[in-house]
Amino acid sequence: MHSRRIKNNWHIIKGQPLTELDKKVLYYQNKGHLVPSRKLIKTAEQIEGIRRSSVVNTGVLDLVAREIKAGMSTAEIDKLVYDYTVSHGAIPAPLNYEGFPKSVCTSVNEVVCHGIPSEEEILEEGDIINVDVSTILDGYYSDASRMFIIGKTTSEKEKLVRVKECLEIGMQAAKPFGFVGDIGNAIQRHAEKNGYSVVRDLCGHGVGLEFHEEPEVCHFGRKGTGMLLVPGMVFTIEPMINMGTWQVFIDEEDGWTVVTEDELPSAQWEHTFLMTETGLEILSY
Ligand code: MF3
Ligand code: CO
Repeated sequence: MHSRRIKNNWHIIKGQPLTELDKKVLYYQNKGHLVPSRKLIKTAEQIEGIRRSSVVNTGVLDLVAREIKAGMSTAEIDKLVYDYTVSHGAIPAPLNYEGFPKSVCTSVNEVVCHGIPSEEEILEEGDIINVDVSTILDGYYSDASRMFIIGKTTSEKEKLVRVKECLEIGMQAAKPFGFVGDIGNAIQRHAEKNGYSVVRDLCGHGVGLEFHEEPEVCHFGRKGTGMLLVPGMVFTIEPMINMGTWQVFIDEEDGWTVVTEDELPSAQWEHTFLMTETGLEILSY
């Protein structure tokens, strides 16, 4: 390994014998790998809470899937999300998050992510849109997004929306006691093989007790790098895949909307996952 110093995230509990898990994680830590801290390994009770939050989150996206159509404003999607979430006893996580003004992110065509719903933005035949929904239920967070095609679109945009494959391939690459970099590597290979680029500036993330936790889950990179994946970790994978350049900029006026530099379309799919003893389980899709 390199000579750089790695944080010793995994601490032994004084006066207690090492468990099999301790031994395994310490083995990787001693080899110089970044390992999770103990608080990133969710308890059964926490997993149950995140699962319940995820059910509401998935329900929101299923509702949007049923209702979304040409002629609708993105503000109407925001209202659907807010009303459903609140009526299920939950809170939309984006609302007032670091000043975000709405309950959901709606990102149309060349908008990569963090699009703000608006009365003025009307969905048109041929648009592709990412709807990114995040829910807090009893303090537990979940996060997922899907693409929707409005009516019929071009074959190029239709193919781009199929980059859901990148998420599926990333999911398969994630193994217990593998590394976060295995995920990004698999996604980047698949995207670039299809002539697309992977956004670098935004990544997946740990989630559950907070909206954004460690680790950072980048959608590009090298196998065997990044944080060790340990059963009990909960995180998102959410590749943003561009038709042209991977470079993006943030709209100066609203300070949120992320747009492709060349203004070519972008697509994104996101699930919340639980790492189990055998691989990833989808919590919210
Ligand atoms: N839902 C986004 C994610 O996948 C985060 C949106 S932050 C917001 O991580 F403030 F824009 F909602
Ligand atoms: Co996310």
